Amino acid sequence: MLMLGRALALSLTLVSATVAFASPTYRTITQFPNGTFVENIGVRHDGSLLLTTLTGPELWSVDPHTGSTSIVATFPNATSTVGLAQYSLDIWAVVVGQINMSAFEGIPGTFGIWLVDFKHTKKPRVVKEVPVPAAHILNGLACCDIRGRLLAADSNAGIIYAVDVDSGVSEPLLSGPAFEHPVGGFPLGVNGVRMLPKENPDALFFTNSAGAVLSRVSLSSKDEVQSVVGPDFAGVDDFALVPRALSRKTLAFVAFNNGNQLLRVTRDGKTDVVLGAQDSAVLPGPSSAQLSNDGHTLYVTTSGSGGNLINGTFSEGPRVIAIDVQHLI
Ligand SMILES: *[C@@H]1O[C@H](CO)[C@@H](O)[C@H](O)[C@H]1NC(C)=O
Ligand SMILES: *[C@@H]1O[C@H](CO)[C@@H](O)[C@H](O)[C@H]1NC(C)=O
Ligand SMILES: *[C@@H]1O[C@H](CO)[C@@H](O)[C@H](O)[C@H]1NC(C)=O
Ligand SMILES: *[C@@H]1O[C@H](CO)[C@@H](O)[C@H](O)[C@H]1NC(C)=O
Repeated sequence: MLMLGRALALSLTLVSATVAFASPTYRTITQFPNGTFVENIGVRHDGSLLLTTLTGPELWSVDPHTGSTSIVATFPNATSTVGLAQYSLDIWAVVVGQINMSAFEGIPGTFGIWLVDFKHTKKPRVVKEVPVPAAHILNGLACCDIRGRLLAADSNAGIIYAVDVDSGVSEPLLSGPAFEHPVGGFPLGVNGVRMLPKENPDALFFTNSAGAVLSRVSLSSKDEVQSVVGPDFAGVDDFALVPRALSRKTLAFVAFNNGNQLLRVTRDGKTDVVLGAQDSAVLPGPSSAQLSNDGHTLYVTTSGSGGNLINGTFSEGPRVIAIDVQHLI
């Protein structure tokens, strides 16, 4: 998500993960104008893509074949859409709130989770809001724990909230040093959160951006936090989890925003660079990733590196990129 260019630059570590294979083929699906901040991505069951934007309170749809884009929902009294997750078949949950983009700060009291229903009508309907009033800046969103509650990360406070859509109640579920940004570091701790509840309803994976790690926590025994990779990746952002049914080897593809790289992480914790390099314009500021439903393609969003210029000079409008990962999972 939001990467504080200024602050991040201070704590940036240069990473030397290895490139273990030939560069995959990739193509740009679409590019947004300079000044747009594409934040996160979801893949609907019909294969179309949903995007959130920090720079507007909108949910976008993208056709990955034609590249055509449209706004499918807008939200009142907000500046930004942030995390998103499919809540039930074709009902999507979206984090909405107010972010001061010049300070890159969330405005506490403005965040909530909205449900958007794509099922019943040709035009999607915004059906419900659940406020999360205590959140400072809500960011990544995952569905769901065994009680059917959405899990939403407050990056500034270092808390993961459990949000019950039926009762409208949100409460802190996970907190502590693993979720907080290190003292004195840039103020983004827990950022991306994902789970594969059908595969393992107890395992939540998350990145801590300033903490530079991808970790796994058990929802039933909350003290069990294991670092999967890191702490070498200052500025890790959202990521795609790979279902075990698609690969016994690859666990995740991680958008390493500040490294301008996409990382592949294996189930035994090995990390390779799939695409990009610190000083390359191939993948400027990757912000999120998700797999296509068949697992053949990885869709990656970029920020365009506007807040963290490559070589101190280069930025561009954000892109959605399709990468052929058939030989990588
Ligand atoms: C919009 O949000 C502000 C807080 O930023 C709040 O004071 C105001 O009551 C909200 N307006 C509506 C119509 O919800
Ligand atoms: C946004 O942040 C800037 C810089 O800190 C500040 O000057 C401005 O008042 C803030 N705007 C709002 C609406 O909070
Ligand atoms: C950054 O600088 C390096 C070294 O001069 C160069 O190879 C690279 O192409 C530059 N990157 C961009 C995006 O301009
Ligand atoms: C995009 O904006 C940045 C910063 O405002 C600027 O440096 C860059 O040249 C712009 N790029 C394009 C393609 O307009």
